[in-house]
Amino acid sequence: MSDSPVTLVTGSARGIGLAVARSLRERGDRVHAVYRTENERAVALRDEFGERAHRADLLVPDDADRLAAEVLALDGRLDHAVHAVGEYVSGPLAELSHADFQRMWASNAESSFLFFNAVRAPLRDAGGRAVFFGCSGLNGLRGRRETAAYAAAKSALLVLVRGWAIEEAAHGVTVNMISPGVIPHDAAHVDTLDADRQARIPLGEPGRLEDVAQAVSWLCSRAASHTTGTDLLVSGGWML
Ligand SMILES: NC(=O)c1ccc[n+]([C@@H]2O[C@H](COP(=O)([O-])OP(=O)(O)OC[C@H]3O[C@@H](n4cnc5c(N)ncnc54)[C@H](OP(=O)(O)O)[C@@H]3O)[C@@H](O)[C@H]2O)c1
Repeated sequence: MSDSPVTLVTGSARGIGLAVARSLRERGDRVHAVYRTENERAVALRDEFGERAHRADLLVPDDADRLAAEVLALDGRLDHAVHAVGEYVSGPLAELSHADFQRMWASNAESSFLFFNAVRAPLRDAGGRAVFFGCSGLNGLRGRRETAAYAAAKSALLVLVRGWAIEEAAHGVTVNMISPGVIPHDAAHVDTLDADRQARIPLGEPGRLEDVAQAVSWLCSRAASHTTGTDLLVSGGWML
């Protein structure tokens, strides 16, 4: 156990982050989980992950730095950093409030910037892996009727991911993005559960949490050591 990789997964009180944290722990990683909101999910996370459950608001620079320090204090290294934070808003741009516009940039792009700043040094020490989450269809820079602000923030994140991939390559660190399509879970946004949307997925069904967790597991494995700066679609063909 003491030689096993140390993995930090944010956004892990629910949904994709929780599935990733559990999956990487099952394969033997020493997984650190992170919640922001103090609620019953936080209590359950502390029960499940014990001293490796942390509270942090990743829009607060000091919280991001403290989180990385707590991981190092407990396990002495950091091999994998997975950032599964990224809020979602839908609706026409003409009706989007300034507050929601700012929230998209902060939650999807700014929190990623702060998180990577906090984990960069230990990842360099370990020759580690970082994984971020986008959304499908970023490569095409498509305009969108309902999700333009969210997709714009995720597009910015993809450019950051590619920038980090270039900068960190000399340090043996890979930085990649996974872009899920439609992945329902017990706290998913209502759009994700929409039957009409799900019916338009070319492979005929929404993705499973374990589909995403397996993709993260691969990116955080030796098999992916020559893969960096990629945007890996786990989308069933959605938004191609
Ligand atoms: N599910 C999908 O179909 C889908 C599709 C495309 C892309 N994605 C992307 O995949 C990622 C995970 O998706 P998801 O559906 O699992 O998300 P989710 O249900 O919204 O959960 C994300 C978690 O992030 C945490 N969080 C939000 N803001 C935070 C902050 N400032 N500091 C710390 N934690 C914060 C929340 O923690 P608390 O609950 O503790 O507040 C929440 O539990 C996101 O980036 C999302 O955009 C998801």
